[in-house]
Amino acid sequence: MIRTQVLGIGSYVPDRVVTNEEIPFLDQHHVRQETQQTETNDAWIQQRTGIRERRYVPNDGTVGTSDLALQAAQRALADAGVAARDVDCIIFATLSPDIHFPGSAVFLQDKLGIAGDGKGSSCACFDIRQQCSGFVYGLQMADAFIKAGMYKRVLLVGAEVHSHSLDFSTRGRDVMVLFGDGAGAMVLGPQDTDDARAGVLYTDCRADGSGAWNLYLKLYDIKKAPYVYYNALDRAQNLDSHPQMDGKRVFLHAVRNMVLSAQKALADSGLTWNDITWFVPHQANLRINEKVVEVAGIPADKVLNTIQFYGNTTAATVPLTIDYWKQQGKVKKGDRVLATVFGAGFTWGSAIFQV
Ligand code: UT7
Repeated sequence: MIRTQVLGIGSYVPDRVVTNEEIPFLDQHHVRQETQQTETNDAWIQQRTGIRERRYVPNDGTVGTSDLALQAAQRALADAGVAARDVDCIIFATLSPDIHFPGSAVFLQDKLGIAGDGKGSSCACFDIRQQCSGFVYGLQMADAFIKAGMYKRVLLVGAEVHSHSLDFSTRGRDVMVLFGDGAGAMVLGPQDTDDARAGVLYTDCRADGSGAWNLYLKLYDIKKAPYVYYNALDRAQNLDSHPQMDGKRVFLHAVRNMVLSAQKALADSGLTWNDITWFVPHQANLRINEKVVEVAGIPADKVLNTIQFYGNTTAATVPLTIDYWKQQGKVKKGDRVLATVFGAGFTWGSAIFQV
């Protein structure tokens, strides 16, 4: 039986560390100022979110989402022992694409040096838009493609540059303190095995569009001409160029759906927590994850988090967290992960797979 196997994993975060102490002093270009720009503080951020610091790309206009993705992809390919030219499909999950179109997967393909092989047969490129749930949605796609025999080497990437869209002011502080930049990637391929628990064992993806306006970044309105209808440099007008969130509603839906999704994953697959080595929840807020773990009765020593030092990197959180703890020697090849995610849309889902 053909099953999907995780062949390799990699991640990348930019060098710049932005601590909770520094964040109140950053201006709209995230340059540190002498005077406080935002009314926030380390105690509030840590108590409400668990976050201590996050990473930002430079603000000199040189680094986009596909650049972070490239670093993570190259590490995943090296881990898998797969040459970039052997990738026959790229799935790129992001809410912060390099530009409006084309999607970021083709930019990544070009940066990997595998665009246009001259014979008209270079790899397929997909962009998907499920925000914090993007990686699990992408994993379901990759799994289906591979089991169907459509592709043999799928590069799945989640990458984000948040720092350039955040509102560095008291007006935007509820969202601004949460997010960081980063990328994670996996290389997936087929294996022929009789082991029904091998590789990617389970994926389930859900959505509730009635929550779409509870967490969004509007940026433009295609119904209007011109469809960008404000001066983005004018703070009185530019609310739509920053993410907006009804934090309490998102929090409640995140806890509820992540609990139900994780429990459903075990029930549907006939597994117990004894069969799962690690629970990897999406990294939006440590309090959300602690509540999910408490309500779902998840063994605390199986939970992996990175939000304390990377913040919320949206589509990148799952591979970034697995790879971080793999680098620390905690996660080992063959360990079975249950990843559960929730994000804008609302979207959510779970996946069970061996790393
Ligand atoms: O990845 C996608 C999913 N995203 C999430 O899951 C995020 C879900 N939501 C959350 O994590 C939380 O709702 C937040 C961390 C965003 C906010 O925490 P909260 O406990 O829900 O706080 P709140 O929004 O009720 O705000 C409480 C107070 C307010 O002041 P008043 O009205 O009580 O005077 C806010 O204005 O805290 C204030 N506040 C802040 N104070 C200092 C909001 N943000 C900040 C801040 N620093 N950064």
